[in-house]
Amino acid sequence: MTRIPLSFRHFAASLLCLSRRCRPSQGYKRGTISAVFLAVAMLMVIVVVSGQQISFIPNGAHFTNPGGTSQTYSTVGKGIDLTGPFFQSLGKNGRSCATCHQVSDGMSVSAANVQVRFSATQGQDPIFRTVDGSNCNHSIDVSTLAGKNAAYSLLRTRGLIRIAIAVPANADYKVVSVNNQYGCNEADVISMYRRPLPTTNLRFLSAVMFDGRESSPATGTTKILYSNYPDALLSDLAHQSLDATNGHAQGDGTRPTPAEQQQIVNFEMGLFTAQATGTTAGRLDAQGATGGPIPLVTQPFFISSNSSVHFLVRTLELPGGLDKPGDDKFNPAIFNPFEAWAELPSASPRAAVARGQAIFNSRPINITGVAGINDELLAGGLVSGGVPSLQGTCGTCHDTANVGNHSFPTPLNIGTGDPSPTNLFVNMGGLDTSYLPNITVCKTDPATGLPTDDCKTTTDLGQALVDGKFDPVGKIKGPILTRTLRPRPLLR
Ligand code: HEC
Ligand code: HEC
Repeated sequence: MTRIPLSFRHFAASLLCLSRRCRPSQGYKRGTISAVFLAVAMLMVIVVVSGQQISFIPNGAHFTNPGGTSQTYSTVGKGIDLTGPFFQSLGKNGRSCATCHQVSDGMSVSAANVQVRFSATQGQDPIFRTVDGSNCNHSIDVSTLAGKNAAYSLLRTRGLIRIAIAVPANADYKVVSVNNQYGCNEADVISMYRRPLPTTNLRFLSAVMFDGRESSPATGTTKILYSNYPDALLSDLAHQSLDATNGHAQGDGTRPTPAEQQQIVNFEMGLFTAQATGTTAGRLDAQGATGGPIPLVTQPFFISSNSSVHFLVRTLELPGGLDKPGDDKFNPAIFNPFEAWAELPSASPRAAVARGQAIFNSRPINITGVAGINDELLAGGLVSGGVPSLQGTCGTCHDTANVGNHSFPTPLNIGTGDPSPTNLFVNMGGLDTSYLPNITVCKTDPATGLPTDDCKTTTDLGQALVDGKFDPVGKIKGPILTRTLRPRPLLR
C-alpha cells in the first residue's frame, strides 16, 4: 500500500473542517462538505492502516457517519493526542485500545471501518486476531484470505467482538444448551457478541461495560453510586484498562502500569462526542440549537440525576433531583438541544429534528415485561409485587439529561436478546438474530443442584454471568445515546 506523503499538519490544514473555518453560514452546503468529510474519514482509515504516523487530531474535526458527521471534543490539550498509552500496543498481539475504539468512529468502531481495514491489509490489521476478533477461536482456518474472510465475518459485517465469560462457580442456574453456529458451544465459558462501547462521554456512566462487570463487587470492582461518584467510576475505569489489555491485547499484566492506567482514565474522562451535523439538517448548533459535543462538557450530572424512577417511587434511585441532588425536581424533557427548531416551518429538516426530540421526551410508552422494571422486587424489579405495566417514555430508561443513559446503575432486559415466542431467529421486537447464538439456562434446585424447568433462552446472558444469578439473565445497562449514529440494529 502506498504511504501518504503528507505531514499531519498539512493534512489537517488542508482537509479537516475545523469548527470556525468552513462553517456553512445558512443551511448546509451538502455535496461539497460531505465529500470533504468523507475524504477525511477515509484518509484517516488509510493513514492508520498504512502505518503513517499522525500524532494529533485538533478539536473541531468532523468525521462522517451515515447520518452526517460527529465530533469528539477533548477537554485536555485542545484535541486528541494520539501518542498516549490508549494508542500504544501494551500487550502481545499488536493491538491498542484504539484498534477497537477509533476516533473517526466516535470512539467505537463501525463495521464499515473494519471492512476497509480488512481489505487494505488482507486481514493482517491487529483487529483481526483470533483471541476475540474471529467468530470463534477454534475450528477456523485463517491461513488463507478466504478463510480469514469467513472467520472474521461478524467483525467485518457487524463490528462485533466475541466476549467470552466463564459461568461463575456458584451460579444458581445451569447452562443446558448453547447453539453457536461458529463452533463456540462451550457451556462453561459462554461466547457472546458485542460491539465496542464508545470510550467517550464516560463522565456520565453509571456502570462500566454492557453487563456492568467492571462496576461490580463480584469482580472486585465498585458499584457506582451517588455517594462514591466519581471515585468509583475512576477506579473502575483504571481496572477496566488492565482487563482490556490482558484480554483483547493478550497482555501479561505488567501494562498498563498504574501511571499508564491513570493516563488512560484521564484521557477517556476528557472526551465528549456527539453528532455535529445532520445530512439534511446541517449544523446541529445553528439557529439556536445546542447540538454537538461542547455543551456536554458543562452538562450538570450526578448519579441518579433526573431519575425517572425516583420521580415515580420516591425511595428509589436516591437522592434523585435535577439541578441539585434531592431537590425533588424531574424534567421529562430529557433532550433539549433542538427546542428552538420547533418554531421553524414544518417542512424544514430542522423542524423534523425538533419533532423527533419531542417524541423522545413525551410519546407515552406502556412498559410491560421489562425485567428490572416490571418484575418482582426480589427478582430485581422496582417494588414488591412488581409493576404489571408502567406508563413511561423513552426517558424512563434513558433519563440522563442530554446524554440518555440511565443515570443510576439499573440493569434492564428489554428483550433485544430474547427470541420471539414464535421464531427463534428473531428477537421480541422482530429483529433478525439468526447470526447470534441461542443460550438456554435453567434455574437449579438448591437441594439437588439439578436444573428445574424454570428456563430462559437468550443471545446474551448479560448480568447473569457477573453475579451468577438466574433473575438477571439478559439484563444490561441502558446505554448512552449521544455518541454516534451506527448502521446496525438495536442489539449489542
Ligand atoms: C478487540 C477490541 C477491543 C480492544 C482492543 C479494546 N476494547 Fe474496549 N471494548 C470492546 C468491547 C467489545 C466492549 C464492550 C464489551 C462489553 O460490554 O462486554 C468494550 C468496552 C469498553 C469500555 C466500556 C465503556 C462503557 O460504556 O461501559 C471501556 C471504558 C473500554 N472498552 C476501554 C478500553 C481500553 C482502555 C482499551 C485498551 C486498554 C480497550 N478498551 C481495548 C472492545 C475492545
Ligand atoms: C424500558 C426501558 C427502555 C425504554 C422505555 C427505552 N429504552 Fe432504549 N434502550 C434500553 C436498553 C436496556 C437498551 C440496551 C439494549 C441492547 O443493547 O440490547 C436500549 C438501547 C437503545 C438504543 C441503542 C443504543 C446503543 O448505543 O446501542 C437506542 C438508540 C435507544 N435505546 C433509543 C430509545 C428510544 C428512542 C426510546 C423511545 C422510543 C427508547 N430507547 C426507550 C432501555 C429502554
